[in-house]
Amino acid sequence: MKLETAEVLENGQVTADMWALRLRAPQIAREARPGQFLHVRVGDGLDPLLRRPISLHRIGEDTVDLLVRPVGKGSWQIARKMPGETLDCMGPLGNGFSIHPSARHLLLIGGGCGIGPMVGLADLAVERGLSVVLLFGARSADGVYPAALLSPEVEYSVATDDGSLGHQGLVTDLLPTYLGWADALYACGPRPMFLSLLDIMRRANSNKTVQLSLEENMACGVGACFGCVVETRAGEMKSVCADGPVFEMRDLVWR
Ligand SMILES: Cc1cc2nc3c(=O)[nH]c(=O)nc-3n(C[C@H](O)[C@H](O)[C@H](O)COP(=O)(O)OP(=O)(O)OC[C@H]3O[C@@H](n4cnc5c(N)ncnc54)[C@H](O)[C@@H]3O)c2cc1C
Ligand code: FES
Repeated sequence: MKLETAEVLENGQVTADMWALRLRAPQIAREARPGQFLHVRVGDGLDPLLRRPISLHRIGEDTVDLLVRPVGKGSWQIARKMPGETLDCMGPLGNGFSIHPSARHLLLIGGGCGIGPMVGLADLAVERGLSVVLLFGARSADGVYPAALLSPEVEYSVATDDGSLGHQGLVTDLLPTYLGWADALYACGPRPMFLSLLDIMRRANSNKTVQLSLEENMACGVGACFGCVVETRAGEMKSVCADGPVFEMRDLVWR
């Protein structure tokens, strides 16, 4: 884990509500893995006091990309950073995704800004010669992550709530088509998406591995404050920041 002052090299709007920032952060990029995150200081003063966690979107040689969907003061300040400005970043934090050596077919599911870490994982999987299907859900067409930004090897399928692009309905409606094909599943998105995924896996009686990246509210980001704990079926409380943010779905308690 490093503290690095990262220079913003690029910032572009990629959907109606998401911005992609490219940061020059060689020390972080050297250690980074898909599924890890940065804890970003958002201002020079005390407000907002806490850093904001943002997943690594893409990882380059000397750069890392963030995909930000602003929802409040902190995330808006990050999304508005212009080229030449800097961001004080702590990271890479968390465990990241793992790809089992025997896995050949990866099924990735992203909802909203949950597409961020999925793209970095897709990049790595394609680099390793694996087959990747990426399913993405948004409210409407203007929220859909552009296919042109993905590696051409990735098969991309979209669902929108209003049917303005792709399948009308939930992203998880697309899942049964690919479930038999997939060796391993990966997902990041809102809790209702996880619950729907859980339900589909249970009804299919599938014991395939499903790695989820959780987005709990965080404070310290390093496992010290217990502000982000989740309960596991083994009866342990795990911190999303230090033990996660990636967890095997079946290891968590779902209520
Ligand atoms: C491991 C991890 C990775 C993340 N990756 C990304 C990412 O790649 N891109 C991205 O845009 N965001 C990501 N988030 C969410 C992001 O950290 C929050 O949206 C941000 O901290 C909100 O801060 P704020 O000051 O903008 O909003 P606040 O003023 O703190 O909150 C504004 C509103 O957003 C809600 N909110 C706050 N945090 C979250 C959250 N984690 N999830 C859902 N709603 C929340 C609040 O309840 C409130 O209603 C991630 C969170 C975690 C824990
Ligand atoms: S944010 Fe402090 S333990 Fe996770």
